[in-house]
Amino acid sequence: MNILLEEYLIKDKVAQIAAQINDDYMNKNPVIVGILKGAFVFMSDLIRHIEIPVEIDFLCISSYNGKASSGVVRLSNDLSINIEDRDVIVVEDIIDSGRTISFILSNLETRHPRSLAVCTLLNKNEDRVVDVPLTYVGFNIPSVFAVGYGLDHKNQYRNLPYIGVFDGS
Ligand code: IMP
Ligand code: MG
Repeated sequence: MNILLEEYLIKDKVAQIAAQINDDYMNKNPVIVGILKGAFVFMSDLIRHIEIPVEIDFLCISSYNGKASSGVVRLSNDLSINIEDRDVIVVEDIIDSGRTISFILSNLETRHPRSLAVCTLLNKNEDRVVDVPLTYVGFNIPSVFAVGYGLDHKNQYRNLPYIGVFDGS
């Protein structure tokens, strides 16, 4: 497995993003919404650097055909917190075409949050099909298939502590 991002780089970036969230949401009490399954590792590291009061919730998104990037997704587990009038930060592992996050944002907007921001660890901006505003981006990466640190290929490799490039073998 070729390494794309080593552990220490991810660690530093996660701390930087959290510091920015601490500043931007000072005196607020945001709801941090992690998108399962991919975001769970990033989210758990991120929130441990967050010093403002926050609430944590999860949305579980499943693809119909096993290919998340088709954008044909459904919400398979909903939030448990009412986000009306709340400041919401959606935490994603990776944004590729933008279809998945745009589905999520449209869904969350119907619940009338006070504000809605997106925080993604990885961004493949070469592949964007749907334009989505991203507030926090860890790393812009080329159009490769990334695995590890929560990201999977057929549900494998989520446990790697670094991010590698899946080479098809
Ligand atoms: P999008 O809808 O094309 O933006 O794709 C987003 C979803 O596809 C992510 O939430 C991932 O589940 C999956 N995905 C896209 N690219 C990768 C990748 O390089 N590695 C692992 N999963 C990916
Ligand atoms: Mg995902």
